[in-house]
Amino acid sequence: MERDLATIRLPLEEATTLPARYYHDPAILEAELRTMFARMWLCVGREEDVAKPGDYLMRTVGRESVIVLRDAGGNVNAFHNVCRHRGSRLLTEASGTGLKHLLCPYHAWTYDLDGTLRVAPHMEEARHFEKRQFGLNRVRLERWDGFLFISLSAEGPGLAEFLGDMGSKFARYGMDGLRRGRRITYTVETNWKMLCENYSECYHCSLIHPELNRVSHYMSGEIDLINQATVGGWMDLRKDEYQTMSLTGKSNRPPFRGITTEDHRRIHYYIVYPNLLLSLHPDYVMTHTVWPQGTGRSEVVCEFLFDPEEVARPGFDPSDAVDFWDLTNRQDWRACELAYQGTQSGGYTRGRLSPLEWMVHIFDNFVADRLTGKDRPTPLRRTSI
Ligand code: FES
Ligand SMILES: [Fe+2]
Repeated sequence: MERDLATIRLPLEEATTLPARYYHDPAILEAELRTMFARMWLCVGREEDVAKPGDYLMRTVGRESVIVLRDAGGNVNAFHNVCRHRGSRLLTEASGTGLKHLLCPYHAWTYDLDGTLRVAPHMEEARHFEKRQFGLNRVRLERWDGFLFISLSAEGPGLAEFLGDMGSKFARYGMDGLRRGRRITYTVETNWKMLCENYSECYHCSLIHPELNRVSHYMSGEIDLINQATVGGWMDLRKDEYQTMSLTGKSNRPPFRGITTEDHRRIHYYIVYPNLLLSLHPDYVMTHTVWPQGTGRSEVVCEFLFDPEEVARPGFDPSDAVDFWDLTNRQDWRACELAYQGTQSGGYTRGRLSPLEWMVHIFDNFVADRLTGKDRPTPLRRTSI
């Protein structure tokens, strides 16, 4: 694998893309699930998704399934969605409310919302069986700015340590208090990495995103943070009168309190590895989470977060932001689907990168690091640009 990836390690001016096989080989996807999705912090939702006791969400990650729920005492817990008896899934809906307990649909073992096994019918005569040893298996859960993250690995750094400088970088946006205005879930027939790579460059923007390029110039901005958890930077709004990313560049919402005058002119775009795409606008935050469902299929959950006062306002209508990004997203999905199809061909092995694809190069190096067992990023070189 190291030899395959040697050309990823070259300075940007000489580096290649990932080999085509890395998008299509099921063994590579297995390795990615093992080294990234089963080992890293994954954003699964927002605190508001489990606002009340009995609220839950369920997230599938490869072959794993995780339940996040708020218990009667108000604590948020994450558990493997697996009964401790003969291993049935417990919940099958992506989210819900009003759970009083978790009833296994197979033989009716019943768990409290804190994971304790409460009822196990006809187990009285099972020798040395103690219910307290058969509570649901926990999954690590931590929070960052209102986002809920899980880790399927018992090892590895805590979320704050993993995030490093990213942890406090956008505190001024007050993301922990924001409320969701809209969620759209897409199924895209492409490899998950192609979606992350596509997010990482605007080389394609002048051609496939005329609406976006009218509001924000595809060459604008800088990358301003690269660490073990993230890569990202900002782009500018084109004109002084533009306020946000929307079809007109206008917004009927004020900018977030607490952001800087520079932020009023900028959109900040970050990948939080492996699969959270975080886009901070002056008046809303958009997130995508990208979930592999096969080498050539991905689920993308796109959410729009707003100031709670705006969401509570009568007639609140986020469609200026949502419609703009829904259009842009679909343009991106089409490009990523075509690239997935093309890279299956025997006529393609790997390509070269433009200077505008610096962030793609950084993401590909993250992938190469993880696949070859490195938790810390390899220092990158960029010799002349
Ligand atoms: S598998 Fe859950 S009760 Fe039997
Ligand atoms: Fe795009």
